[in-house]
Amino acid sequence: MPAGRTSGGMMSVLLQVQTDLLAENVYRICLGEPDGFIAFNHFLIVDECPTLIHLGHQQTFDALWAAVRDIMDPSTLRYLAFSHYEADECGALNQWLKMAPAAEALVGKICASSLQDFAQRSPRVLKDQETVQLGVDQLRLLETPHFPHNWDACLFYLTEKRILFGSDLATQKGFQPVFDPAAPEQAALALQEAMTFMPWGPHLAAGVQKICALDIEILASMHGSALNREQSQRFLASLLEANDRLGRMF
Ligand SMILES: [Fe+2]
Ligand SMILES: [Fe+2]
Repeated sequence: MPAGRTSGGMMSVLLQVQTDLLAENVYRICLGEPDGFIAFNHFLIVDECPTLIHLGHQQTFDALWAAVRDIMDPSTLRYLAFSHYEADECGALNQWLKMAPAAEALVGKICASSLQDFAQRSPRVLKDQETVQLGVDQLRLLETPHFPHNWDACLFYLTEKRILFGSDLATQKGFQPVFDPAAPEQAALALQEAMTFMPWGPHLAAGVQKICALDIEILASMHGSALNREQSQRFLASLLEANDRLGRMF
């Protein structure tokens, strides 16, 4: 699969699909309308246990399936991971469970209660800081309640490549390149200050402090460009500063 390929989507002529290499054997598949407010990143980890981070909407399942198929056989996916119970994170979970018979969802204990009703197959429930062996790499779950948002929120960290999959953390508008040498962290902070999709306050502070204990080489957001080490450090510091400044207002 050549990096940077762009094609028309299967579901809609307005849907743009672009696949890029985020790191060795880790792909970013971005879906969105070219002029849409935000686009949606899905991350495919190709390892002995292939893993998809962010399962996407039901309506874009066919396009995401086709993009994964350009890289590997999607029916052999082993793990399906996402941060919190929301349509862009896991709307298509049951479609993946149906089409990938060995796949298991990886969730924390709070999300598990939603999946007991919603999912067609039981998830694997992980404890805070529990690690799953993927093969060459390992995936660790961190419980981060209400961060970026929702009580059930967790984040996943790929330990060898030091990639934090940040879900809505560091969201930027629009269809962005996989990396941006300019200052995507400034756009991310401005959007958070304008929209407050992450609630200000003690949970945000606790979440940032928890991930700051990690060695983060790449902060891979669900929406927008991934942040490199320096951009990530600047973003997290400025987010904490904004939380101190604005969090007391809520
Ligand atoms: Fe979300
Ligand atoms: Fe999202």
